[in-house]
Amino acid sequence: MKLASGYEAFWEAAHKNYPDQIKSGGLLDLRFLGGFSSVVSSVVNDDYSDRFVKPSERGWTSSIYPLSFPMKASASIPKRSATVGALALTYKGLINIKTPFDLALYTRLIWELQPKTILELGSFQGGSGLWFADHMSLLCDSPGEVHSFDLHTKCIHESAKHPLLTFHQIDLSTVENLDKGLLTRLPHPWLVIDDAHVQVFSIFSYLSDLLISGDYYVIEDVTVDANREIIDGLQLAEQSGFLVDTYYTDAFGINLTCAPNAWLRKS
Ligand SMILES: C[S@@+](CC[C@H](N)C(=O)[O-])C[C@H]1O[C@@H](n2cnc3c(N)ncnc32)[C@H](O)[C@@H]1O
Repeated sequence: MKLASGYEAFWEAAHKNYPDQIKSGGLLDLRFLGGFSSVVSSVVNDDYSDRFVKPSERGWTSSIYPLSFPMKASASIPKRSATVGALALTYKGLINIKTPFDLALYTRLIWELQPKTILELGSFQGGSGLWFADHMSLLCDSPGEVHSFDLHTKCIHESAKHPLLTFHQIDLSTVENLDKGLLTRLPHPWLVIDDAHVQVFSIFSYLSDLLISGDYYVIEDVTVDANREIIDGLQLAEQSGFLVDTYYTDAFGINLTCAPNAWLRKS
C-alpha cells in the first residue's frame, strides 16, 4: 500500500521543481503556502493514528450527501441539486454515476491500495467499470482484473470494453449466485464497490469472508439513510473486523461522499 507523506513531501517536491520561484517568492506565495500547509497536513496526512475508526464510533449528523448538495439559489439562478450534474457525468461517452468527489477518492484509493482485483456490483452502462479498468491500468504497478456484475447486462454499451474488464450477468437478490469458484481465485488486494443496492448487507456478509486484511469494501448510496438496517449492517461490518477509513469519508468534509461511513477496510 502506497502512502504519501503530506506536507514534507509537498515542500520537498516544491523545492526540487521550483527552486528559483521559491527563492523569489514568485510562483508560490509563502503566505498562501502557510495556510495551504495546514490543510495539506490535516487532509493528506494518511499516517495519522486515528484514520481508521469503528463504524459505531462515527456520527451521522455532519453528513452531506453530494447527490443532494444544494446549490445557492438567486433570482437569476434557480435552485438545483448537484444530482443533476452528477447524474450527467459521463466517461468516454458512457454514463458514469459517480460524483466528482468520489471519482477523486477512487483515484487516490486505487493508487494507494494497488488492487489486483476490483469487483463492482451494478454495472449499468459499463461506464464506471470502464473507468475502473482504465484507472487500474494507469495507477497500478501490475494491473489486475475488474469484474462487474449486473442483472440487466443488456444495458451495457458495446463500447464499454477493456482488456482488464469482464461483465457478468447475475441476479444479486440471491447472494449465492455470486460464483465462489471465480471469487476465490481472484488475487488480492481487493476493492469491492457495491453500487447495486440489492441485499446490501447479505452480500457484504457473503463477500466479507473472502476479503483479507487490507482489502476495501465501499458501499455506495444506501448508507445515506442512517436507518436501523444500515446501523445494524455497519455493526455487522465492525464485528467482522472492518473499520471506516476516514481519509476517504472525510477528505472533502465529513462524509462528503456517496458512501457515508462506508469506505470500509478489513483489519
Ligand atoms: C446505480 S446503478 C449502477 C451504476 C454504475 N455502477 C455507475 O456508477 O455508473 C445500479 C445497477 O444495479 C443493477 N441491479 C438492480 N437490481 C439488480 C439485481 N437484482 N441484480 C444485479 N444487478 C441489479 C441495475 O441494473 C443497475 O445497473
